[in-house]
Amino acid sequence: MASLIHKDLSTLRWDGELPGTLNMIDQTLLPEQFLRIDCNTPEETWQAIKRLSVRGAPAIGVAAAYGLILGVQHNAHLSQNEFLEKLNITADYLAESRPTAVNLFWALDRMRQTAATHADLETPQLLERLLAEARAIEQEDQAMCIAMGEFGQTLLKEGQGVLTHCNAGALATSGSGTALSVFYAAARAGKKIHVYADETRPLLQGARLTSWELQNNDIEVTLICDSMAGWVMKEKRVQAVITGADRVAANGDAANKIGTYSVSLLAKAHGIPFYIVAPSSTFDFALATGDSIPIEQRDPTEISHGCGKQTAPAGVHIYNPAFDVTPAENITAIVTEKGIISPVTTENIAAMLKG
Ligand code: MRU
Repeated sequence: MASLIHKDLSTLRWDGELPGTLNMIDQTLLPEQFLRIDCNTPEETWQAIKRLSVRGAPAIGVAAAYGLILGVQHNAHLSQNEFLEKLNITADYLAESRPTAVNLFWALDRMRQTAATHADLETPQLLERLLAEARAIEQEDQAMCIAMGEFGQTLLKEGQGVLTHCNAGALATSGSGTALSVFYAAARAGKKIHVYADETRPLLQGARLTSWELQNNDIEVTLICDSMAGWVMKEKRVQAVITGADRVAANGDAANKIGTYSVSLLAKAHGIPFYIVAPSSTFDFALATGDSIPIEQRDPTEISHGCGKQTAPAGVHIYNPAFDVTPAENITAIVTEKGIISPVTTENIAAMLKG
């Protein structure tokens, strides 16, 4: 089968030079339809992020960096001050697309910082420098995925069953994924791992995306409903849980797709290790704990109108937080591109990532 990591199937890519286009897989259509779409403006990029055509923390960051280029690439004739003002307005706008994944803000800040550092350049050269920075963010993400996979696979043993939640794969990054990169690295190391994928209500990233992605990469996968996670642990079908994260606070509290917190409690109750795989771009050292991580609230119709039909009575109250926060005490280890952090403490995180 074709590999997603293959260039033609890349989650997102910049087409052309300057001016160029941001091209991406429309993930809202998978697995029924594989369609690539173009974004030519920051507005189209904002919409693509908001409606989850591109999703997953690292991929959102890369998309935002290129979305910023789309916003200024026709403005090289402006004076430097005007150009920088346009850049900042566009970055502020893109930052409003989704609130939880810190990679979005991290990538936009890095682009702003690049502009500030190269304030001596003429505007056309500054624009080229910014495109180079967006490309660097994408390429570094790819390298971090490989490194996390290699570190993470050392935690797994031949023949194990591993539960994952949401999609933290190639589709969620510009490389081979965070959590799912561990499965690809385990396969390269000759270990046979069987993945159990939670379907991940309400938008079914596990069913639609993770099982599709793993199938396409020849990794054995069994899809289960979210409510079955505890039972597959009780039945000893899984020996580890591995997920990604959208924002990790300085103490290791980790926001990820809604349902991850419950899975961490189930893993604890069954004595199963719970691992988070996240690059340094997903850490937010400005937040001491996960208590202040902003949690995205999404449209109630995602719950009331699942699978294209009405699945709840009109007018019923609906609560639809898209993420939850797993406390550090429930996390056995965090796998980063620099190594494995365990036990998960503020000191160990700082030593690994800031040291
Ligand atoms: O709402 P989504 O689909 O963007 O949520 C994605 C997740 O929660 C992923 O698990 C997380 O971003 C890790 S991605 C490598």
